[in-house]
Amino acid sequence: MNILILGSGGREHALAWATLQNPKCDKLIVAPGNAGIAMIADCASVDIMDSAEVVGFCEENSIDFVIIGPEAPLAAGIADDLTAAGFAVFGPSAAAAALEASKAFTKEICDACAAPTAAYGHFTDAAAARDYVKAQGAPIVIKADGLAAGKGVIIAMTDTEALAAVDEMFDGAFGDAGTEVVIEEFMEGEEASFFVLCDGETVLPIGTAQDHKRVGDGDTGPNTGGMGAYSPAPVLTDAIAERALEEIIRPTMAEMAKRGMPYKGVLYAGLMIKDGQPRLVEYNVRFGDPECQALMMRLGAQAFDLMQATAEGRLSQMVVNWADDHALSVVMAARGYPGEYEKGSVISGLESLPEDSQNMVFHAGTAAKDGAIIATGGRVLNITARGATLVEAQKRAYEMVDQIDWPEGFCRRDIGWRALG
Ligand code: AMP
Ligand code: GLY
Repeated sequence: MNILILGSGGREHALAWATLQNPKCDKLIVAPGNAGIAMIADCASVDIMDSAEVVGFCEENSIDFVIIGPEAPLAAGIADDLTAAGFAVFGPSAAAAALEASKAFTKEICDACAAPTAAYGHFTDAAAARDYVKAQGAPIVIKADGLAAGKGVIIAMTDTEALAAVDEMFDGAFGDAGTEVVIEEFMEGEEASFFVLCDGETVLPIGTAQDHKRVGDGDTGPNTGGMGAYSPAPVLTDAIAERALEEIIRPTMAEMAKRGMPYKGVLYAGLMIKDGQPRLVEYNVRFGDPECQALMMRLGAQAFDLMQATAEGRLSQMVVNWADDHALSVVMAARGYPGEYEKGSVISGLESLPEDSQNMVFHAGTAAKDGAIIATGGRVLNITARGATLVEAQKRAYEMVDQIDWPEGFCRRDIGWRALG
């Protein structure tokens, strides 16, 4: 098969790496890709937000299957247009992608199917939102309704902070994403991510993970897109995972089908767990980044079979073959991230690193220049390793990190700490 992956991050590098191991893959193209992806697949310069361009590219290149990595093209309806043009696609329709693209939509779906989540209010004007904040009191969570690249959530510990956040959102700090605001009860507990595939009907769990959102060791400093992840997440025990499926995920999928917008793709449920009870924090309609890197190392070649079965509505016939193992991914970022950072610094030492089923360096924000690999993004490399235990996976990953010569980069040294106690 000729397979196209849309995206350019570490997530897409991991998806490409797993897909290439599947014997069904004859040719793999990633658009637009990055320097690491270019070492294993063809990269093509395509505007992945432009449906006509993507469909035209698939026709010219006889593409048989398209995997859409990020949320923005999903919310923009690229999956719908590819499906209409006759291509097999992994990724939900724009209507179903509202589970990530609109927080108010997700809350309303949770209400309709009685899925446990934070109590909330939904506002289109600042005065009503301010009144709600005053009535509820801090701590409270203020969220821009739309996609805001992970930045539209403010956890306010005081009423003053909460009111300032409301004003900021209605003043346009998050553009169109913030013209509607959801205000939520602050939930306590431990967060974990649950990944399932859904083909519109059948739900198939494919793994759990835990991310590290803060930039600094010990979960300190500002929030980021994620500084490291590991899979599985022990806090998401089998019993809690089953509860999440029964009480949250299957009811959501049934509600989506009932509304004529069946969900087809990977659903990433962010859960808050307290006293054995999972509650929904948010849905994402794509793989997490860097959670995907850890998941792909564990799933390997079967990942493509599972994505294909999702697109073809055959998930009820599929089983996931779990290796009883652990994977951990450390994000190396440019100094300054998530604030201002320099681009263009040279990364050395990558050539001598092992790349096999136990050790992989996934590229997130790199380019090749004059024979060198340079950093082009905030999150730049995802050093990922597998092991029989989490300790072993962590040790392998940091051994690789320590061989990389990149003075302008940094990483957290404690990825995995919650599970390792
Ligand atoms: P979201 O984009 O909705 O996932 O929010 C980003 C992060 O904010 C989540 O991963 C949580 O760590 C935190 N968060 C969001 N909503 C809540 C909530 N209601 N209570 C506590 N923490 C939250
Ligand atoms: N790592 C968090 C996310 O992908 O949203």
